[in-house]
Amino acid sequence: MKYEHIVIPKFGGPENLLLTEDELPQPRANEVRVKVLAAGVSFADILMRKGVHPESWNLGRIPFTPGWDVVGVVDKLGDKVTAWQTGQMVAALPIVGGYAEYIILPSDELVPVPPGLDLAESVSLVLNYITAYQMLHRCAHLKLGESILINGGAAGGVGTALLQLGKLAGLKKMYGTTSNDKNDIVSNLGGIPIDYKSVDLIQEIIRLTSRDGNGNQGVDVVFDGIGGKSLKSSYEILRSGGRLVAYGGTPTSDPEDWLMMFTLNLVPDKRNFMLYSIQTLKRLKPDWFHEDLVLLLDLLKQGKINPIVAARMPLNQAAQAHELLASGSVRGKIVLICND
Ligand SMILES: NC(=O)c1ccc[n+]([C@@H]2O[C@H](COP(=O)([O-])OP(=O)(O)OC[C@H]3O[C@@H](n4cnc5c(N)ncnc54)[C@H](OP(=O)(O)O)[C@@H]3O)[C@@H](O)[C@H]2O)c1
Repeated sequence: MKYEHIVIPKFGGPENLLLTEDELPQPRANEVRVKVLAAGVSFADILMRKGVHPESWNLGRIPFTPGWDVVGVVDKLGDKVTAWQTGQMVAALPIVGGYAEYIILPSDELVPVPPGLDLAESVSLVLNYITAYQMLHRCAHLKLGESILINGGAAGGVGTALLQLGKLAGLKKMYGTTSNDKNDIVSNLGGIPIDYKSVDLIQEIIRLTSRDGNGNQGVDVVFDGIGGKSLKSSYEILRSGGRLVAYGGTPTSDPEDWLMMFTLNLVPDKRNFMLYSIQTLKRLKPDWFHEDLVLLLDLLKQGKINPIVAARMPLNQAAQAHELLASGSVRGKIVLICND
């Protein structure tokens, strides 16, 4: 039997996302074959396609099938698999291989998806919401009443997840930088949008937090989705005891940026800098990933979080999906529907 998947034969533009037919692989011992129903399209997929993501030297070596996050149905069990049954709905973060009709995964990589959930909403949790949840609770240890700034893409996938989960966690003020035309997304989620293109960010945060009236300018935590030189201003916006979590942007090759990052924590000023990487934390603490995804799927089931889905596109439109995401005009998660 044959199956279709997207293959990237060489790093570069979206034209390198090729729909390819191959022999359907069989699961080996302790593996499960999953029929992929929904695969997320992410900024990380674009960086991997270009060959500039840290995983491009690991799982994303060419040729490879992209696709960080999937939801699907258990299709076939390998020997020794007792934890799963065919027909069960599951989610996983394989990092590669998601843009496919079928994927083979180690059985302990799967997380059960409760019945009745929307596929595209469920797959939005696997990368964006786990990232937001772990940064809030596993890295920054946010406390009730604290304030945050999302510096870069507050209306984007991770940004909107941070706003929804931050509100649930009882944060006092949530500021977020975004392009003007997406202000409504940030304010509808309880955030205060800042148009980073027309103001000086540090001055604006000082102005806004002075109005908070506690004489303590700055915010408790900054989530920086831009990286590079932006980290310096993100750090300066922190008040005493504040934490800067860096998670996004194109990896910098400027040695000055790396030096600046290494020296931030050497300054004895009660402020902390940390780098978040979902794949590193998952490798170090696989139980946390499992636990956190179960919790997020339950929040979705209860209607306490509402992932924004921008588009559902067929697998053979993976290249168009990348172009759409790269255009910056998209409002929410793009999901590839890999089987009817
Ligand atoms: N560390 C991790 O484990 C991890 C996990 C998931 C994602 N990420 C990273 O997190 C970042 C955001 O991911 P996402 O899925 O939320 O992306 P997204 O939904 O595509 O949002 C990105 C948005 O960021 C804004 N932006 C881009 N470049 C900017 C710049 N130089 N200055 C200010 N704003 C800028 C743009 O929004 P506006 O049009 O509103 O300006 C853009 O639409 C990506 O770099 C991704 O690779 C990291």
